[in-house]
Amino acid sequence: MTAIGVDLGARSYAVHIGHGLLGSLPEVLKGFRGRRFAVVSNRRVWSLHGRIVERGLGKLGGLARVLVPDGERHKSRATLAAVQDAFVAAGLGRDAVVVAFGGGVIGDLAGFAAASYMRGIDFVQIPTTLLAMVDSSVGGKVGVNHPKAKNLLGAFHQPRAVVADPALLATLPQRELRSGAYEILKCGILGDRALFRAMAEAPQGLVGWDRQGLESAIAAAVGLKADVVRKDEREGGLRRVLNLGHTIGHALEAVTHYRRFTHGEAVGWGLIGAAWIAGRKDLLRASAVEAIAEATDRIGPRPAMKGLAVEPILAAIAHDKKARRGRVPFILPTAIGRVTVRDDVSPADVRGALAAMAARPAARR
Ligand SMILES: NC(=O)c1ccc[n+]([C@@H]2O[C@H](COP(=O)([O-])OP(=O)(O)OC[C@H]3O[C@@H](n4cnc5c(N)ncnc54)[C@H](O)[C@@H]3O)[C@@H](O)[C@H]2O)c1
Ligand SMILES: [Zn+2]
Repeated sequence: MTAIGVDLGARSYAVHIGHGLLGSLPEVLKGFRGRRFAVVSNRRVWSLHGRIVERGLGKLGGLARVLVPDGERHKSRATLAAVQDAFVAAGLGRDAVVVAFGGGVIGDLAGFAAASYMRGIDFVQIPTTLLAMVDSSVGGKVGVNHPKAKNLLGAFHQPRAVVADPALLATLPQRELRSGAYEILKCGILGDRALFRAMAEAPQGLVGWDRQGLESAIAAAVGLKADVVRKDEREGGLRRVLNLGHTIGHALEAVTHYRRFTHGEAVGWGLIGAAWIAGRKDLLRASAVEAIAEATDRIGPRPAMKGLAVEPILAAIAHDKKARRGRVPFILPTAIGRVTVRDDVSPADVRGALAAMAARPAARR
């Protein structure tokens, strides 16, 4: 078992990572003994893994269960209202603890419900997808989607603890596992050479990876994110580096109406694109550009880029919500384990990247 501290003064917390950790929930969360818990989950996750959480939390205090429908489209104001109504119906007080038990959708939704209820009550993240373990459960960004834009409505609300048990990943569809793997690879590229190497050498798609390998990769990715969040909790500057691969990735998701690619798959493509642009700008050696593309393809397969029109992708990038004064900041690798932020990436650079991405044979499914 590993515990990684997210050091944020009074809002500090630990991310506990360990295979089988949910079996020790009463010990891991003993600081919450005697409190009332409201577990937010979806039916799928709850039917697979709910019992162990129910048993563990039940030993610590009273329990209310709030189940919402599965899927990104339910990360909505309507579901948020339903969760808030359930909190009211359960009579939760200021000392209640919201427990988000699910993937990033549940974490963002339950976290935002906790942030809004009585101006903010405590919450704990128990992530059940790889993406949620390494990314969304850490850092305090919570929220729901607006019909016009993803994650438009939200807050910063740090959890009081995160409990990540990789044993839960045994039931995760392989495509979802790969989606999280791209985000881990991203962490390696932007700040951890050893993690990059581990990912490049891991079994394809992480299938059958030994516990130790998987657990250390999760811990390394969390450690990196924790470090960045500690230095820049509210994304004043540094936290932007976590957006490596996301500028192109978000555009791919938007032009395909969030249907063709999972978020992680789009980020995977974006990593290849960012590396290619860095190579074109002589910021990154050709061998490193190829090493990044190979490591990314190794996680694959991903849905192909084939048939995607270039213009709408360029337009979506220009509308990136991180754009400032018309310039879209791009995070570009300068070496494996190091990145820089540039605002001089031209449409021609992106066109070149998209062509290079579409030409990669390895990632078709
Ligand atoms: N807050 C942040 O900093 C942050 C960062 C990255 C992503 N996100 C958000 O996270 C969301 C994506 O999260 P996600 O990829 O975890 O998707 P998700 O929550 O939709 O989960 C993916 C699917 O896996 C199922 N599932 C979850 N755990 C399972 C398990 N153990 N076994 C079997 N099935 C399981 C879910 O029910 C769902 O169908 C997006 O809404 C995104 O905006 C937030
Ligand atoms: Zn992401």
